Amino acid sequence: MDMQKLVSSMTLEEKAGMLNGLDFWHLKGVGRLGIPSVMVTDGPHGLRKQAGQADHLGLNASVPATAFPTAAALACSYDRELVGEVGQALGDLCQQEDVAVILGPGANIKRSPLCGRNFEYFSEDPFLTGEIAAAHIQGVQSRNVGTSLKHFAMNNQETRRMTVDVNCGERAMREIYLAGFERAVKKGKPWTVMCSYNKIDGVYSSENPWLLRSVLRGEWGFDGFTMTDWGACNDHVRGIAAGLNLAMPSLGNAADAGVVRAVREGRLDEKAVDEAVAEVLNVVFRYVENRKKDPDFSLGAQHHLARKVARECAVLLKNDGTLPLSSNAKIAFIGAFAESPRYQGGGSSHINAYEVTSALEAVRSVAKVAYAPGYAAESNDTDPALLAEAVALAKESDVAVVFAGLPDSFESEGFDRTHLRMPDCQNELIRALCAVNCHVVVVLHNGAPVEMPWADDVSAILEMYLGGQAVGGASVDLLFGAVSPSGKLAETFPMRLEDNPSYLNFPGEGDHVDYAEGLYVGYRWYDARRMPVRFPFGHGLSYATFEYKNLRLSAGTLAQDGTLEVKVDVTNTGRMGAKEIVQLYVHSAHEGVSRPVQELKGFEKVYIAPGQTETVSFRLCRRAFSYYNPDIHDWYAEGGKYELRVGASSRDIRLTAEVELEPGKPLPVRVTADTTFGDIRKIPGADEALQPVIGGIMQAFGTMDNASMGGAANEMANAMVRDMPLHGLKSFSNGQLTDESIEAMVRQLNEIQK
Ligand code: BGC
Repeated sequence: MDMQKLVSSMTLEEKAGMLNGLDFWHLKGVGRLGIPSVMVTDGPHGLRKQAGQADHLGLNASVPATAFPTAAALACSYDRELVGEVGQALGDLCQQEDVAVILGPGANIKRSPLCGRNFEYFSEDPFLTGEIAAAHIQGVQSRNVGTSLKHFAMNNQETRRMTVDVNCGERAMREIYLAGFERAVKKGKPWTVMCSYNKIDGVYSSENPWLLRSVLRGEWGFDGFTMTDWGACNDHVRGIAAGLNLAMPSLGNAADAGVVRAVREGRLDEKAVDEAVAEVLNVVFRYVENRKKDPDFSLGAQHHLARKVARECAVLLKNDGTLPLSSNAKIAFIGAFAESPRYQGGGSSHINAYEVTSALEAVRSVAKVAYAPGYAAESNDTDPALLAEAVALAKESDVAVVFAGLPDSFESEGFDRTHLRMPDCQNELIRALCAVNCHVVVVLHNGAPVEMPWADDVSAILEMYLGGQAVGGASVDLLFGAVSPSGKLAETFPMRLEDNPSYLNFPGEGDHVDYAEGLYVGYRWYDARRMPVRFPFGHGLSYATFEYKNLRLSAGTLAQDGTLEVKVDVTNTGRMGAKEIVQLYVHSAHEGVSRPVQELKGFEKVYIAPGQTETVSFRLCRRAFSYYNPDIHDWYAEGGKYELRVGASSRDIRLTAEVELEPGKPLPVRVTADTTFGDIRKIPGADEALQPVIGGIMQAFGTMDNASMGGAANEMANAMVRDMPLHGLKSFSNGQLTDESIEAMVRQLNEIQK
């Protein structure tokens, strides 16, 4: 289809209409030109297609669909292929329901564990976020249905999400908050991107030309269309000028007229409108021309898939050997979530799950268990009768498995948590059970970390997150060892909320939030501060044990444009076949630039049969060693030594190796009269250039000797010279140097770097 030609045959009014939705979920069509009206809808871990009354808060019913594990859980699988399978299943459902674009995945970084929407986001780490988001996108889009990568960008809290102004600084923004989006866009190639509600440095995302044009399209090569989050359009004309394509939901006819007027009055370039329309139409036709009307799938098969996925995502946080359970033991299931699991979060992602399996139901085919609810699901307060009944049951059982976590009212889209506590009644129940039974296993259903005051007293903790509609079956599979747990945490579980780096700046003051912790988000902070955490990033246990051996690199040195292959042998030394997630972190110890202690740059998940060894390989290139340098507005990898750390978690590094990165182009030093000699000396050729003018003065510093200062004199002289700005030399030159000669040196030093 020749999109240029199509656009040129549209009236200005029709074009304006394409940039503003038809209603809550549809784009406009143009009947006379054969442009159909298509539907976009939520996402991301299931399909929320509302046939009746529409809303963006998950309030009104939608068609029955499969609720897969939420993003927080999915990321813990560290499994690109598996996430791709979920994407394919979502795509199938979209095809069947005639949905052109599913709104997701969400790639916002978990800055604080308090963010009410963390269950919809993948990780505190941008590499993991980007890889999993890309896999999700590729999966959906393999069915010729689009995704909408959201919420672009800096939407890391729910409090005042529609007005809050984020101040972060370019380096942290690039390395932490945008890097996940960047990877997802470059690798996954989403058909659409959804702008966030908030402002960044005073500018709404939906009208930010730097974000929408320079970064997203210019640098990352995005060629789809952008749409606002629901109601995030502030000034439609300004948005279109900045690179926004579509306002959703519809702003009404007045907005179309506003765009037409802006073009006629010369306030908006018609070329910008034409381009924006063509970008929308490309996606519309990519969908309608490739739609398969009868996709080959069944909801029953999707339920099985949901169970498999939930199994692969769950993280065994602690186990003293109580798990796996024997079906001959006298087992009690305790806790209302055993009967009615919390498997998804509240808000726009809320799916009308067509079937939900509870653990109590699933366990029937495996073992005979007794049950007591223990607490009321939506309550914070203990019900003494429920507590007493549960304690009595635990007393007469070999093992008490408690299904606990966060009720809906504790976390949701729309508001942030104010603490990390589970309901008092659940904490009290767990403590009471520990007092009467020494085999208490906790199965958690929550969208984000909780504090676990009882962690040391229980035998095992199995984190299911919000594991989708088949979570009950998956829990039973894992508890009884039908398969080994194999997920690992995609975020740190802190000891307490106060340890979190954003603690003093979340959710900000009024409409302003300062990301004062900069780069030091999640494990980057806990590692730098050497803080104890409840469970570290990347942690997860298995019923097997693994030994890591033979870490080897394809070369000891790496050219700036080279690729390094890293290999390691992993042996299953246990008795059960299981999957292991092998993680690769890069540690850089260069002076002068603040760098996290280590950063995740590779991960692979492999199945290993008992006694067998598998070789896991990673490929690294320059970007894995780079930081974002705001002076050059680009990524930069300093030459020198880096340590590669391979491990089973961020705090369980098993093997290390060193690689030398060859030096790249030296960083330019923007010289002014205030530039220090320490910095000037980094410029190749600077010493030679300055020698004739200031050689004598410098020598005087170098030979300074003060007997009373002993050995410190030399060091002091060096420090003085290193930290002295160019203009400071005037005072030591006996009038030899003037403002003019300093200016000449500045010019010369800038010149030799060209
Ligand atoms: C959410 C989006 C969602 C949209 C449509 C908004 O409130 O932030 O994630 O896709 O509503 O329901």
